[in-house]
Amino acid sequence: MLTKELEGKISVVTGGSRGIGRAIAIALADEGSHVVINYATREDAAREVLNEIESRGGSAEIMRFNIALFQEVQRAFDEIVKKHRRIDILVNNAGITRDNLFALMKVEEWDEVIDTNLKGVFNCTRAVIKAMIRQKGGKIINIGSVVGVMGNPGQANYCASKAGIIGFSKALARELGSRNITINVVAPGFIETEMTANLSEDIRNEMLKRIPLGRFGKPEDVASVVCFLARDASSYITGQVIHVNGGMF
Ligand code: NAI
Repeated sequence: MLTKELEGKISVVTGGSRGIGRAIAIALADEGSHVVINYATREDAAREVLNEIESRGGSAEIMRFNIALFQEVQRAFDEIVKKHRRIDILVNNAGITRDNLFALMKVEEWDEVIDTNLKGVFNCTRAVIKAMIRQKGGKIINIGSVVGVMGNPGQANYCASKAGIIGFSKALARELGSRNITINVVAPGFIETEMTANLSEDIRNEMLKRIPLGRFGKPEDVASVVCFLARDASSYITGQVIHVNGGMF
């Protein structure tokens, strides 16, 4: 028999229309949660995820908002809380890269990445937190990156945003533990998605040599850890960074 550990829970997954977010949305719905699939631009991709979830017997809806815009995010979360009365699980997954060598990095490349990856996490968490305090519990799972801990040339903006997410999560874990709200970071290594699809064969081969498990990760490798952190079974874990990287770090 299928266990449905997240039956009755309401989840929001940012950037749920493709890649890692898509896998997370499907996995949470498979466990019985109703999932709000956020997307920024590609409604068709978000609908495909919704159809996939429904064809598997799950429940979801799609919702467009740009996580980088505070008021837009606030309005969206108000709408979700009004409709469902609660939000149990927030997965801050959406993220972007604008890679460049630091000496050439444009201020726009810095701002775009920080505004989406770090301020986006602030915006969504800020928008959800009062509901979680009111309902006396919640789970916030932030998608970081191995490079937020290791560093990576050409990604000073991205590494700073992902390291920032770790500090943010550790601070909130201390601040909100007494409210029964847990905040953790899942830090993927190299996962096969659109984000990594354009890397050259040389870089891919170089990366592969550094991964003891000898393969790149799949979005599902990350989704299963997010699901674990979303379940009650993990309720004594907070403020942690869980690495999912095939052993590369
Ligand atoms: P992806 O590029 O395939 O998907 C990113 C998703 O975020 C898309 O659905 C996109 O529409 C959404 N998004 C981007 N900006 C947005 C905005 N302003 N508002 C709302 N949604 C927005 O990327 P992928 O690989 O699935 O990455 C997901 C997360 O995992 C990101 O935070 C990324 O930094 C992180 N990550 C990915 C790794 C990889 O190897 N693919 C490695 C480590 C971390």
